[in-house]
Amino acid sequence: MAMIALKCPNIRVTVVDVNAQRVAAWNSDQLPIYEPGLDEVVRKCRGRNLFFSTEIQKGIDENDIIFVAVNTPTKTFGHGAGCAADLQYWEKTARLIHDCAKGDKIVIEKCTLPVRTAAAMSRILHSGRTQHHFEVLSNPEFLAEGTAVADLEKPDRVLIGADATPTGQKALQTVVDIYANWIPSNRILTANVWSSELSKLAANAVLAQRVSSVNALSALCEATEADIEEVSHAVGMDSRIGQKFLKAGVGFGGSCFKKDILNLVYLCGSYNLHEAAEYWRQVVVINDWQQDRFVANILHAMFNTVADKRIAVLGFAFKADTGDTRESPAIRVSRMLVEEHAQVVVCDPQALGNARHDLADLGDRVLFETDPYKAALDADAVAVLTDWTCFRELDYARVYAGMRQPAFLFDGRNCVDHAALYELGFNVYAIGKPARSHLA
Ligand SMILES: NC(=O)c1ccc[n+]([C@@H]2O[C@H](COP(=O)([O-])OP(=O)(O)OC[C@H]3O[C@@H](n4cnc5c(N)ncnc54)[C@H](O)[C@@H]3O)[C@@H](O)[C@H]2O)c1
Repeated sequence: MAMIALKCPNIRVTVVDVNAQRVAAWNSDQLPIYEPGLDEVVRKCRGRNLFFSTEIQKGIDENDIIFVAVNTPTKTFGHGAGCAADLQYWEKTARLIHDCAKGDKIVIEKCTLPVRTAAAMSRILHSGRTQHHFEVLSNPEFLAEGTAVADLEKPDRVLIGADATPTGQKALQTVVDIYANWIPSNRILTANVWSSELSKLAANAVLAQRVSSVNALSALCEATEADIEEVSHAVGMDSRIGQKFLKAGVGFGGSCFKKDILNLVYLCGSYNLHEAAEYWRQVVVINDWQQDRFVANILHAMFNTVADKRIAVLGFAFKADTGDTRESPAIRVSRMLVEEHAQVVVCDPQALGNARHDLADLGDRVLFETDPYKAALDADAVAVLTDWTCFRELDYARVYAGMRQPAFLFDGRNCVDHAALYELGFNVYAIGKPARSHLA
């Protein structure tokens, strides 16, 4: 919404949210999320044509176009728990729009939803005695956290799904015209609503599947002394495949990949497409397995025990350049290490607040430290779990000097210089590569 406000000075954008604390943060100098470049965009537009408010009813009443971007997490209860999307926030929003609208509205699904949700939304909006017309469109968001501003400024594509009816096509043109303010027309795709809804789930599933495919291969590399970076480079040189998203690591995280694949699994199952459901489920199974393998490798390398050993976890965000820790592999890995009675010290430049919240129940088995050198002081091992530039550029000689011997480094992102670290004296274990150990 901030990008629309930036690129379309003639459009007034009002962001409303039930969470007053978040709204206050959006109105302050300390935005509630860390996203490179976003502060500047918000600063330019806020108070001009970008407003943040808790007045939801007024927001609905006063605006012609409503983007619904509420959370759609995986259901944790009842039917479909652990798989289906929890649509309660979306459903409440639809009812609120129905109750507050005093005129016709274009309602746009910006959040990620199961296919055919727009039909349910339309039914709710047109229920009762409403005189107004609500045109429901799908406009899924493809940005990636950490590069959101650049992704929004120059998206690979914007996708807008609408009904083929005259009112659907008119609303479609209205939304196309907004994006046309800064996006070339060949990157604005239009589709029917169901294709648009499904394309978002499909894109995330295919991206995550590439990660799980390369991670499955990384396990075979470790067993055979092949090197996953050499393998994925050779594979990615095939122009039909391409290099992107072929990097082995400790697994994908983030609020979307797992949730959206499970949503797809649930959808396939509900249409009795059980083989398709199982196919996609394996992407998540491999991702969990990769994290378990990472911890198993730590245990094995450290003489089968980490009890009372200090392990510095460098990076808790699910990827670099974000403070978001939702579904971060660091959560599972830290918990497993604590189960093995390790003393875990978590360090992250942006995600310590979320990390404290995620691991609150673990008490003093987990410490939180902003300074990586202090985190690694007297540690037996360092585990790199997020590829932040600041961790890549550490003075590892200094890190090594402060550690207990033998010193171990486990690179869950294949992002540090393994040969150099081995020369410094570290026993280095990376993903999908032969170990570099002085102990063999
Ligand atoms: N985070 C991403 O990178 C990303 C990318 C693409 C798509 N999406 C999709 O966008 C949607 C939102 O994701 P998110 O990461 O921003 O979630 P989020 O949980 O960070 O934000 C959702 C916001 O909606 C608010 N909300 C909930 N119910 C409301 C209501 N009835 N009225 C007003 N506000 C309400 C919440 O208070 C919260 O601030 C999800 O469907 C997600 O799959 C997210």
